[in-house]
Amino acid sequence: MEKLKIAGGYPLKGTVRVSGAKNSAVALIPATILAESPVTIEGLPDISDVHMLKSLMEEIGGSVEFSENEMTVDPSSMISMPLPNGKVKKLRASYYLMGAMLGRFKKAVIGLPGGCHLGPRPIDQHIKGFEALGASVTNEQGAIYLRADELRGARIYLDVVSVGATINIMLAAVRAKGRTVIENAAKEPEIIDVATLLSNMGAKIKGAGTDVIRIDGVDSLHGCRHTIIPDRIEAGTYMILAAAAGNGITIDNVIPEHIESLIAKLKEIGVQIETSDEQVFVGPAEVYKAVDIKTLVYPGFPTDLQQPFTSLLTRAQGSSVVTDTIYGARFKHIDELRRMNANIKVEGRSAIINGPIQLQGAKVKASDLRAGAALVIAGLMAEGITEVTGLEHIDRGYSHLVEKLNGLGATVWREELTKEEQEQLKNA
Ligand code: EPU
Repeated sequence: MEKLKIAGGYPLKGTVRVSGAKNSAVALIPATILAESPVTIEGLPDISDVHMLKSLMEEIGGSVEFSENEMTVDPSSMISMPLPNGKVKKLRASYYLMGAMLGRFKKAVIGLPGGCHLGPRPIDQHIKGFEALGASVTNEQGAIYLRADELRGARIYLDVVSVGATINIMLAAVRAKGRTVIENAAKEPEIIDVATLLSNMGAKIKGAGTDVIRIDGVDSLHGCRHTIIPDRIEAGTYMILAAAAGNGITIDNVIPEHIESLIAKLKEIGVQIETSDEQVFVGPAEVYKAVDIKTLVYPGFPTDLQQPFTSLLTRAQGSSVVTDTIYGARFKHIDELRRMNANIKVEGRSAIINGPIQLQGAKVKASDLRAGAALVIAGLMAEGITEVTGLEHIDRGYSHLVEKLNGLGATVWREELTKEEQEQLKNA
């Protein structure tokens, strides 16, 4: 087990390149199960979630080649093997194995998904969708059993706008008989990315990126080559980092339209922003103004950037309010930021940040992926050394973080935890 050490307080400069989107990758890889010949995905991020999915594809009989961010999955010999425990439980997005395996084999046994602990994360809308398509779904001792004689297209209205349910129902429906209509669908760019891959595989999907998606089922899907979209959340994290601790940083491989809500908020704070086709330049503000943010479904302000944004707001003059309407309990990073001298209180679904405050280095723990990003940014802003543990969360979603930060002039390194530190963490 390792910790990340950050020598804070040095202004960062230069260019950082964004990797492929984690939240696309974790759906694109399971989507390959639906084909009958090899599928190649280019530009995948080098993160632990991708490595975990690679081994899950192998576990069910797929043959996988993965090098230089390109993965080819040959799904022709896959079988519907029960995957109740182990790796499945470590990965939130393992729920996409349900839709993909149901779509191809009409049966699946998958453990309940793990991933970041952000409060309750039900999958009732996924299940509602599978049942509408004709599957029986039962929960037996922590594993979900899905079975169908055949899948038939259906009209499905999502009671909650859900990225996962929208994608999962698309995966199950592309090989169902007849037409499926998903109403009140999520509109995130990752949904368009998955629909593009499936269409390249021969699926018939219209309306991805709007709130009504129509899918006409086909009998079989074939292999193809697909390039993943850039990670808008990783891009947003580096933009926030640039605003918080930078002295002129260019973020490369970005689709600026995917992060308009963040750009608007950074401008409101007073940060300089210039966008071009695939790059965003972020320069420091003369005065950092307090702003309020409220997370919403896309194209609103993403919940995944709320935590990193909170670290930036400790620099702003006055009182800022961050409200998370998607995950009301996504505030585990706040106690850690307080250890670093931040003046923040949590009231219900909101965090109230009073600034400006000079953060101080401290020993802190990442409780989830984006909490980790928030603490890394705080460490770069702080005086002195910050030590971040819980790196397994950060490694799930940020490709080559240390190299990218040091490329911007940061002094960041990983160190093995001592035996005492490992004991302390276990008992914490
Ligand atoms: N919800 C339900 N029932 C469901 C599904 C969702 O009530 O069946 C609720 C959730 O509890 C939540 C809201 O609906 O309050 C939205 O959840 P959604 O299903 O959209 O989230 P998800 O698909 O589980 C993805 C990302 C998350 C990101 C959310 C919201 C992946 C693998 N994960 O999760 O990403 O926060 O959408 O945008 O795509 C992250 O990257 O750090 C991360 C957690």
